[in-house]
Amino acid sequence: MSEVFVFDHPLIQHKLSIIRDKNTGCKEFRELVDETSMLMAYEVTKDMLTEPIEIETPVAKANCYRMSGSKIAIIPILRAGLGMVDGMLRLIPNAKVGHIGVYRDPETLKPVEYYCKLPQDIEERDIILLDPMLATGGSAVAAINFIKARGGRNIRLMNLIAAPEGIKAVQAAHPDVNIYVAAQDACLNEHGYIVPGLGDAGDRLFGTK
Ligand code: PRP
Ligand code: URA
Repeated sequence: MSEVFVFDHPLIQHKLSIIRDKNTGCKEFRELVDETSMLMAYEVTKDMLTEPIEIETPVAKANCYRMSGSKIAIIPILRAGLGMVDGMLRLIPNAKVGHIGVYRDPETLKPVEYYCKLPQDIEERDIILLDPMLATGGSAVAAINFIKARGGRNIRLMNLIAAPEGIKAVQAAHPDVNIYVAAQDACLNEHGYIVPGLGDAGDRLFGTK
């Protein structure tokens, strides 16, 4: 069974409280999702491997550490996951970026897949899958299926807010994928929205409603 990590850093929690607020406008919402993703990048990479390396400073030799292990790929689920990409890249500038297009049918709540383009060497990379919302889990489970079908193995899922239903669905379908969130909320409502959540992440990011 995979693990769920909740990032309770005060900066992350502070920013999330403004993101959730219905009075936060599109511009501020986008900026805060970006900043929060950057802070979460720091946390989600915390256990990645380092190796010792000797560096010559202008003064003397120094024993330092560099990240080792595999290279990183970040993969946003379109479209709301796009809001998390720049923040991640600010801390992990050499990461490659894949894209997976999945939207949730508003009637059935089932995921509809429409796009997938991943780095060619995806099987060699540490993969961080991005989506602000984990609701029923249908979109995330479908996206992870896509990645695994193309050889991706070492996958982490990072969300701003997750519902217990989504966590359960991902853990059941993909017990090897750990989940990293800023908050775990109470439940879903009858429309499949996370309660209390933040509303529709894609619409709030891109101003489409
Ligand atoms: C939202 C969100 C997730 C999905 C979560 O996307 O960004 O991808 O819903 O719901 P689930 O866990 O029940 O699958 P949406 O389908 O609204 O598409 P969008 O990003 O294009 O707005
Ligand atoms: N998608 C969203 O954008 N918000 C939710 O609460 C659930 C799914």
